[in-house]
Amino acid sequence: MSLSGKNVLLIIGGGIAAYKALELIREISKRGGSVRAILTKAGAEFVTPLSVASLSGEKVFTDLFSLTDEAEMGHIELSRSADLVVVAPATADLLAKMAHGLANDLASTALLATDKRVLVAPAMNVRMWQHGATQRNIATLKSDNILFVGPDDGTMACGEFGPGRMAEPPAIADAIEAALAPSSRLLEGRHVLVTSGPTHEPIDPVRYIANRSSGKQGHAIAAAAARAGAKVTLVSGPVSIPDPPGVQVIRVEEAAQMLQAVEKALPADIAVFCAAVADWRIASHSEDKLKKTDAGPPALLLTPNPDILSTIAHRTADRPSLIVGFAAETSNVIDYARAKLDKKACDLIVANDVGGNSGVMGGDMNTVHIVSKDAVDSWPTLNKTDVAERLIALFAAKFTKKSRP
Ligand code: CTP
Repeated sequence: MSLSGKNVLLIIGGGIAAYKALELIREISKRGGSVRAILTKAGAEFVTPLSVASLSGEKVFTDLFSLTDEAEMGHIELSRSADLVVVAPATADLLAKMAHGLANDLASTALLATDKRVLVAPAMNVRMWQHGATQRNIATLKSDNILFVGPDDGTMACGEFGPGRMAEPPAIADAIEAALAPSSRLLEGRHVLVTSGPTHEPIDPVRYIANRSSGKQGHAIAAAAARAGAKVTLVSGPVSIPDPPGVQVIRVEEAAQMLQAVEKALPADIAVFCAAVADWRIASHSEDKLKKTDAGPPALLLTPNPDILSTIAHRTADRPSLIVGFAAETSNVIDYARAKLDKKACDLIVANDVGGNSGVMGGDMNTVHIVSKDAVDSWPTLNKTDVAERLIALFAAKFTKKSRP
């Protein structure tokens, strides 16, 4: 059976969908898994501890400060004895607590203390789901490697229609299987090198040339590669977003330092060049702050930076097997991407339109076209985390094909 020998810690939040958690317990048991459940105070308004205990065949945990529970099993151990933690239904409140690291009851404490992967099945009113606060929390949770299943579109208990219905128990059980399957570690044993963020090219000790890259896409790719089991080196320019978990981060400022760090990190199996490297630097930047003088503004003489992607792709020794470049374009996106693929000798170009109102630079969404020698695949607009997940699956598939004798 597909979940044979697997233990799931199921956290049941307070929502009308809690009744489906009972069905989920049966579904997990049917597939050979076992369930230990935490029922939140609000969850207990919808299903009783007795029904959860009867179906799971296990004691149900409800209270953070229960001395008997602590004597039998501490909340830390409870959160770690499972193979996977599943939150179903995951209410807006539970997602907010998780995103902000709150721990004021047994469920939120277990979620903060666990060292296992967490899968959430959100369920809430459509307006609550679409609210900016919930969407921000979801983006945080995705970048924290939290797995999501659903929500589905449909008519809600409150009569409104839209996304917010909890995924059906068989779909949640499938997501549990996928999370626990060894195949979800598609890049186990591989070294993935990612560049991300902008570079800062000094003019003098206080001024620099920069660009609007936030590093969100590159960091999301590094995080997704780590989730897929890879050893990940992320060479990042100056960004204000957190380091992705499970990734070795090397911070640099200038393009020349980025090239040096990338070369030092080789060999790698896959290299993804997502950084918005400044094409030029000041030919000879001033060691002292430039002062205003009567002679007028200084003329800044630029000199080209090394092209990191092209340098690595043209290497004969230690060339990563799969080299992926990005193309940030404001027009003729596909044509320019094709030209870059050729000129920079990479295996794939991920092209995106960063022009005018696209909101890509600094935003959370991205619309990309995957350009290879003989094909273009245009993806729908997706959250940068979802783009990263799909890219990793694509790289893993290409990599397997390439490494076949
Ligand atoms: N790149 C790089 N080093 C550089 C410039 C770019 O490694 N000095 C990489 C980027 O990380 C990206 C790809 O090259 O993967 C394309 O970068 P982009 O700025 O879009 O293109 P450019 O080569 O700079 O060409 P142009 O500015 O003329 O569009």
